[in-house]
Amino acid sequence: MSNNTLLEISDLSVCYGRVTAVRNVSLTVGSGEIVAILGANGAGKTTLLNAISGILAPQSGSILYAGKQITGMKPWALSRIGLSHVPEGREIFPGMTVEANLKLIDVDGGGSKFSIDDVLAMFPRLAERFDQMAGGLSGGEQQMLAIGRGLMASPKLVLFDEPSLGLSPMLSKTVLSAIRRLKERGISSLLVEQNMRAALKIADRGYVLRIGRITAEGSAREMIESPDIQRAYLGL
Ligand SMILES: Nc1ncnc2c1ncn2[C@@H]1O[C@H](COP(=O)(O)OP(=O)(O)O)[C@@H](O)[C@H]1O
Ligand SMILES: [Mg+2]
Repeated sequence: MSNNTLLEISDLSVCYGRVTAVRNVSLTVGSGEIVAILGANGAGKTTLLNAISGILAPQSGSILYAGKQITGMKPWALSRIGLSHVPEGREIFPGMTVEANLKLIDVDGGGSKFSIDDVLAMFPRLAERFDQMAGGLSGGEQQMLAIGRGLMASPKLVLFDEPSLGLSPMLSKTVLSAIRRLKERGISSLLVEQNMRAALKIADRGYVLRIGRITAEGSAREMIESPDIQRAYLGL
């Protein structure tokens, strides 16, 4: 593993009963890198992220984070060492205010520090909604809040599960450019997306996941330009 590697996954398989949803997946995320995982609905993207963040136990394989074997560690323990997960479905507390949702996070992952003011500067819409119940926010605002919550843990690496799903093109852009700004603060991202073009615009590298397997990988530029990858991807 190179000095620069923050996350190194080797030969990871994850099953639901007898169904293998992620099969022999190997990938790396370098320090300060944005890595995209691209794949259609059902490809195994969420399963992969859930295995990394400790929500699911893998069948086999290893996950090294900052040089440490984290396979089998619990989500709360991982967030304490800077591995933050912004799950699919924007898990926020609908009956609590925006402020309370942000203040709930009492973890310091040791990465770039984020205060509530930093989060509000990144997403000014949340400042306007600060005292409102999270459940009354629009989909885009809930996504911003979910990301803000992830950042309150001062992460080194954030796992994003389809952050642009269901958002208008303009809000998707806001969310994806926020992820790019995290990179400027030294935060790495593993970004799962169905929207290949949008993800590759901000990513350094990417992998294509197809029915649980990595079928292609490369620099974002190579992937955008490769007809093979586009065909393989669009053929899903
Ligand atoms: N809780 C579950 N139980 C059984 N099968 C599941 C479960 N969650 C997902 N799957 C299956 O695993 C595969 C990958 O799903 P998922 O990781 O959610 O894909 P993606 O996030 O890429 O859409 C799909 O075939 C899906 O039906
Ligand atoms: Mg998913």
